[in-house]
Amino acid sequence: MNQVRHVPVMLQRCLDLLAPALAEPGAVVVDCTLGLGGHSEALLATFPSARLIALDRDQEALRLSAERLAPYGDRATLVHAVYDELPDVLARLGVGRVQGVLFDLGVSSMQLDESDRGFAYAQDAPLDMRMDQTAGVSAAEVLNTYPPGELVRILRAYGEEKQAKRIVSAIVKEREKQPFTHSARLVELIRDALPQAAKRTGGNPAKRTFQALRIEVNGELAILERAVPAAVASLAVGGRIAVLSYHSLEDRLVKQVFAAGAASSAPPGLPVVPERYQPRLELLTRGAELPTEEEIAENRRAAPARLRGARRIREDAP
Ligand SMILES: C[S@@+](CC[C@H](N)C(=O)[O-])C[C@H]1O[C@@H](n2cnc3c(N)ncnc32)[C@H](O)[C@@H]1O
Repeated sequence: MNQVRHVPVMLQRCLDLLAPALAEPGAVVVDCTLGLGGHSEALLATFPSARLIALDRDQEALRLSAERLAPYGDRATLVHAVYDELPDVLARLGVGRVQGVLFDLGVSSMQLDESDRGFAYAQDAPLDMRMDQTAGVSAAEVLNTYPPGELVRILRAYGEEKQAKRIVSAIVKEREKQPFTHSARLVELIRDALPQAAKRTGGNPAKRTFQALRIEVNGELAILERAVPAAVASLAVGGRIAVLSYHSLEDRLVKQVFAAGAASSAPPGLPVVPERYQPRLELLTRGAELPTEEEIAENRRAAPARLRGARRIREDAP
């Protein structure tokens, strides 16, 4: 693992979005996706009076970041948790509402670089893909045991893979001969199964299948669907949230939660909108913001990033 190579994505923009809420003494900011601690370290350094609570489901990420953030002492509290557990984590720590929340979704560069975790299609590795290696089923188990119809659904929904049926029928034939254990055999099989035309577009033909397996193994979208509303609910009025997504499924989900919060929930036709129907959120980004060309040139992993921010402007109706 090489920490020097890891550059936090859209860092300055994330700090700017959260800044107005984090200047006050006693402000609490939650980094829901600690990873290697790049964003967390910058939050601690930029907002010297803020306290950081950082979550990750990956024990290895927590271990490495604990070393990196040690100089900040008890201003940083690192917790092994899945991010939809945020309300419980805050309750356990005796923290009420918070002033900032950041999500930097997806896989960390450490997870991609550690070839034995099986996230990367470019290296042959055991097909694991669990972010928390202490729980859940591996990608190999999904491939070897799920019914074909379920695999097709996953590849279509989570990988937006148009050739899902073709790939799954090749997988099913192959797994009857011998169960899958390693990634290279899957990559090769996908390459062989796809028609020439499908191979010419969209980079490595295994990319979409790997994304789909990773999302399924880690239950990513179902967790995110609970986590973003929970994070919004944990914000104090004036608190700010920033979310970096890396594929359209994540971004769509974040967009929907923010848009719902920023809309009035009044029944149509009311001459004056009562307080309880007024929006809870104000959007801080127009659509999703993208990384600059320069950032992408320096950090290829920033390329698919989409950033959205919002500010809590009102309490929930009693
Ligand atoms: C893209 S990385 C974060 C990188 C970090 N911002 C940095 O600058 O180093 C995403 C991290 O979120 C963690 N993660 C993904 N899904 C999670 C979830 N549902 N709950 C908690 N952590 C999660 C992953 O284990 C990974 O370490």
